Amino acid sequence: MARFLMCPPDYFGIEYEINAWMRVSNQVDREAARAQWNALHRALVGELGASVELMDPVVGLPDLVFTANAGYVQDGTFVSSTFKFKERQGETPYFDAWFSSHRFRVLKLGPGCVFEGAGDALPIGDTIIAGYRHRSEICSHVELGRITGRRVISLELIDPLFYHLDTCFCPLDKCAALYYPRSFDAYANRALEEAVPDLVPVSDSTAHRFGCNAIVVDGTVVTNTGCEDLEKPLAARGYNLRMVDLSEFMKSGGSAKCLTIRLD
Ligand code: ARG
Repeated sequence: MARFLMCPPDYFGIEYEINAWMRVSNQVDREAARAQWNALHRALVGELGASVELMDPVVGLPDLVFTANAGYVQDGTFVSSTFKFKERQGETPYFDAWFSSHRFRVLKLGPGCVFEGAGDALPIGDTIIAGYRHRSEICSHVELGRITGRRVISLELIDPLFYHLDTCFCPLDKCAALYYPRSFDAYANRALEEAVPDLVPVSDSTAHRFGCNAIVVDGTVVTNTGCEDLEKPLAARGYNLRMVDLSEFMKSGGSAKCLTIRLD
């Protein structure tokens, strides 16, 4: 059974600007955000039979809802993030406490090396695809490889709108993934082509609707609304598309996948 961690958006808001999507002047409608988050939670639990654990929201940590950035999870080990911006650094003790009280082994990377967890590191088969430049630093990938024992392929993200890897790349299974080619440089495109046998490019408009920020639960791919053109390529590979309106979270530069972290 797919297992996730989410954090309710009680204190979610745009209190600072740390990515190209965020504008303090473009405030969140908290009630709408709550309804959207509930709809995502319902889709995962009620429709898709996933198990979703919840952590307590914390006043003054508006981005704690984006649990994808907590760290990187593999086989009961949690590699804790080292956030780039001080605005998010206060989240770490809460994430670490949650994972250690839920019987994960909590590991830290060496100090001074930015690493933003499952936002920038995504496993596909036995390989980890990892992004760097806007947030995570490439030095974190070396340590991640050492800790996990996996091959890590480091890719530079070139577009500030696609600042975390999970905004432009989404593994579907061992050999297929959605990706937005323009957010990677030529080398990264070649590396992806070599590593992933079935790469599915998404359109500009779907990429900008966070179509790659998708949650895969068995045969269903959950994304933000406005990603209709994913339906065909997904159906051809045996997947259903389930869209949930997450427009309030886009104001913060996030969508479906960022609001969850896979625990199993
Ligand atoms: N406002 C958050 C930030 O800039 C959004 C994080 C989105 N998370 C993700 N995994 N892409 O840090």
